[in-house]
Amino acid sequence: MNTILEAIQKSAIRIKHAIDVKDIGYSQEQNSSGETQLQLDIQSDLIIEEELSRIETVHTIASEEKEHPMVLNEKGHYYIAFDPLDGSSLVDVNLSVGSIFGIYEGEFSGEKMVAACYVVYGPRVELVFAQYGKVSLYLLQNGVFEYVKEIQLNVKGKIMAPGGTQQCWPAYHKQMIDSFFARGYRLRYSGGMVPDLHQILLKGGGLFSYPGASDKPEGKLRMLFEVFPFAFIFETAGGKAVDGKGDVLEKTPRHVHDTSPCFFGSNDEVNEVLSVYAAH
Ligand code: F6P
Repeated sequence: MNTILEAIQKSAIRIKHAIDVKDIGYSQEQNSSGETQLQLDIQSDLIIEEELSRIETVHTIASEEKEHPMVLNEKGHYYIAFDPLDGSSLVDVNLSVGSIFGIYEGEFSGEKMVAACYVVYGPRVELVFAQYGKVSLYLLQNGVFEYVKEIQLNVKGKIMAPGGTQQCWPAYHKQMIDSFFARGYRLRYSGGMVPDLHQILLKGGGLFSYPGASDKPEGKLRMLFEVFPFAFIFETAGGKAVDGKGDVLEKTPRHVHDTSPCFFGSNDEVNEVLSVYAAH
């Protein structure tokens, strides 16, 4: 597992460099050599693929940027699903973005997840890694990820990050979110899952929601690349992650890119989601 964490760290340093290089961004234009410039998210995908392909224990990778999983080593036992650059459209407006990794043993299913990790590329580069009941925060300093502290959620928080298009939300979802705000919760939503959830984790708690809605009945966020890794991290940090009915990690996607409604947060807020949703 250490070699996987090291590969993620190397990938993060290379992706950060790619983000920083001025003339890459989203351009579809040709560069001076006449080659089509790679979009940043495709470039990030290739970086991670290259770093993980050096590790013998990695059997298969699945990426948000690839249609199908890719077998790297038949003898390996880790299955790694990743979103190379989540929220990449935010790079153009200079907001934070991130990479997300779910590490599974034997197959891609919530119950087979053994570790999860994400990297936030913001004013600083930070990495959060969850394994063996502990969530650790690292900070990139002088080219090295230094351990900072363990992350633990409070039982109740103050932040509300409500995803999706409000006019398409079910009425009971809207009432629930309104009622949180009526009790003093503060809106914190950038549109990047990684920084939005990172803020909730580091500020002690709250609720991030991306419900099923009339425009997206199964939500927007993909189980393998986005939902399961954050569910694992929130649960390890003492919080909860549900799909509205129960633990989201108990779900098994039928297809690699399947989505699920999702709610991540501290215990009190997620319990309230469960009771509101149970009544409908
Ligand atoms: O998966 C892409 C993503 O950008 C997430 O990072 C983010 O949480 C979500 O979409 C935002 O979606 P919306 O703009 O519909 O709230």
